[in-house]
Amino acid sequence: MRFILVGPPGAGKGTQAVNLAAHFSVPHISTGDIFRANLKEGTPLGLEAKSFMDRGELVPDQVTNKMVKDRLGKGDLDNGFLLDGFPRNVRQAEVLEEILDEKKSPLEAALELSVDSAEIINRLAGRRTCRNCQRAFHLMYERSKVDGVCDSCAGELYQRDDDKEEVIKRRLEVYSEQTAPIIDFYRERNILITIAAMGSVEEISERAIAALMALS
Ligand code: AP5
Repeated sequence: MRFILVGPPGAGKGTQAVNLAAHFSVPHISTGDIFRANLKEGTPLGLEAKSFMDRGELVPDQVTNKMVKDRLGKGDLDNGFLLDGFPRNVRQAEVLEEILDEKKSPLEAALELSVDSAEIINRLAGRRTCRNCQRAFHLMYERSKVDGVCDSCAGELYQRDDDKEEVIKRRLEVYSEQTAPIIDFYRERNILITIAAMGSVEEISERAIAALMALS
């Protein structure tokens, strides 16, 4: 299965991606996670991305598109892939289409997670992320077994710099202005699936899997 997740910041893309990637046995490719991993390593890519991420702006297409093209050129995509956080504007969607056309393996689904705006703020405000493996927890909805420690890898949990109130506001604006138009882009190609992303993580995963399985 070759598919992408679309939805505003805090919709639960990263959380659902873990379950969906495991279910369909495909790699989970998150552009946000790749940028944060580069930042942790102090690479030039990470440092360049940081200035945009901290302001809630998109990292320039030129940088992001090359990074994704390189990633999609690796040899672990026989079963497909799950892209989380890419594309984020219509130009990126066109570039993805070009890359996949060249490989003769077009995208099969764009899964949109639809969430109430009040819920988005709650989810982002309480999110804590593992510095090591990037898994997301929540202070109320998904607590780690030990406070401040990741259940998966025992890494330290922290609050992302872009989860501060003023940055969240800008990220939501950027989503409406630049990312939401890709929903029509995929609707026109007849591969858009929209599911309600309210309820428990497990319920949403079941809904998503059922919708994706209905495609085949
Ligand atoms: P990125 O890391 O992709 O952030 P995002 O899209 O803003 O999405 P988030 O990670 O904030 O949220 P999510 O939907 O994954 O929610 P999560 O599962 O964590 O991008 C960050 C930045 O990188 C961008 O702003 C940009 O600067 C740059 N960037 C990335 N890609 C780019 C691109 N293509 N082009 C240019 N720039 C790019 O869930 C949120 C919280 O809710 C968690 O605490 C979770 O535990 C909780 N939760 C999840 N589901 C539920 C549920 N069902 N019930 C209760 N709580 C839940």
